[in-house]
Amino acid sequence: MKDAVLNTGARMPMIGLGTWKSDLSTMVKVVDSAISSGYRHIDCAAVYGNECQVGQALQHSLSHSAVERQDLWITSKLWNDNQKAEHVRPACLSTLADLQLDYLDLYVIHWPIAFRHGVRSPASREDFVPRNELALKETWLAMEALQKEGLVKNIGVSNFNISHLKEIMSVASVVPSVNQVESHPYLQQRELLGFCQQQGIHMTAYSPLGSSGRSAELRSADERMILEDATIQRIAARRGASSAQVLLAWQIQRGVSVIPKSSSPTRLAENLAAALLELTEQDNSEIAAINIVQRYFSLSSWFGAESPYSLSDVWG
Ligand SMILES: NC(=O)c1ccc[n+]([C@@H]2O[C@H](COP(=O)([O-])OP(=O)(O)OC[C@H]3O[C@@H](n4cnc5c(N)ncnc54)[C@H](OP(=O)(O)O)[C@@H]3O)[C@@H](O)[C@H]2O)c1
Repeated sequence: MKDAVLNTGARMPMIGLGTWKSDLSTMVKVVDSAISSGYRHIDCAAVYGNECQVGQALQHSLSHSAVERQDLWITSKLWNDNQKAEHVRPACLSTLADLQLDYLDLYVIHWPIAFRHGVRSPASREDFVPRNELALKETWLAMEALQKEGLVKNIGVSNFNISHLKEIMSVASVVPSVNQVESHPYLQQRELLGFCQQQGIHMTAYSPLGSSGRSAELRSADERMILEDATIQRIAARRGASSAQVLLAWQIQRGVSVIPKSSSPTRLAENLAAALLELTEQDNSEIAAINIVQRYFSLSSWFGAESPYSLSDVWG
């Protein structure tokens, strides 16, 4: 398995297992199956509401295999209601307790958007904390303290654009190790990737397969599925690979790690095998030329009249 070398020198496997929307009742089976097929990187988040089940699954796998804690890379994310400095450490401790771990390999600020403490999903303007009341820098400095204390080995961000990155880097003693953002050929994120690479920030692509498992309320009516894209399917046929493997191999070849979610042992193995697929220059340039733009996570309910945040504040 290929690794990304982060700016701390830590090595993070380029393919990880996403856990958002994973079925709670089969978590032990999925994590066991993933670890036995070679996954060593698991992407979690407090807001997924399943860190207890992931924790039980990890304990099960660690006690039933030769894999040890230090062989695994576990990421989790600070939810939007815990961005005040005083809430960062308790949130991290709660995630560690749920995951039954004494450290995380990577902890990231989930979104550059703040909610009132205790709000999981905002329903009114009062549920948001505007940026002028809580600067991202405050949260970042609290993340640095977690790293210093040894609760987390690496710290990073998610869904940050270039302005957000510049804002925290203006006060940071620690440059973020990772920026985890939505990316696939319909959202290539070339400018952001260039900036991150220049600053030594590794980029991870979430929803690299187009997040086909999302519920209807998170989908737009005219959504196009990247797995069914004609260019991707043509390259897949040419390479004797699946569309999913082409999507993952493309990211890995441009230095971006991926965290596809699957609950199927067959697809888990298929996704991991994407690391072995070599795309040609021709394949990569055909993908670069895809000119459809589609963001699967537009989260429009966070940016309406009820919100102090605008779409452009977040997507830049
Ligand atoms: N930082 C953030 O804000 C953020 C946001 C969203 C997601 N994430 C993370 O990124 C992970 C991945 O994103 P995602 O879950 O949105 O979407 P995704 O990984 O792009 O797609 C997952 C969907 O694709 C299916 N799938 C998996 N492998 C496949 C294959 N080889 N062929 C065909 N279909 C396949 C899965 O179904 P089966 O399970 O049935 O295989 C599932 O429905 C999440 O689980 C989460 O950990 C982070």
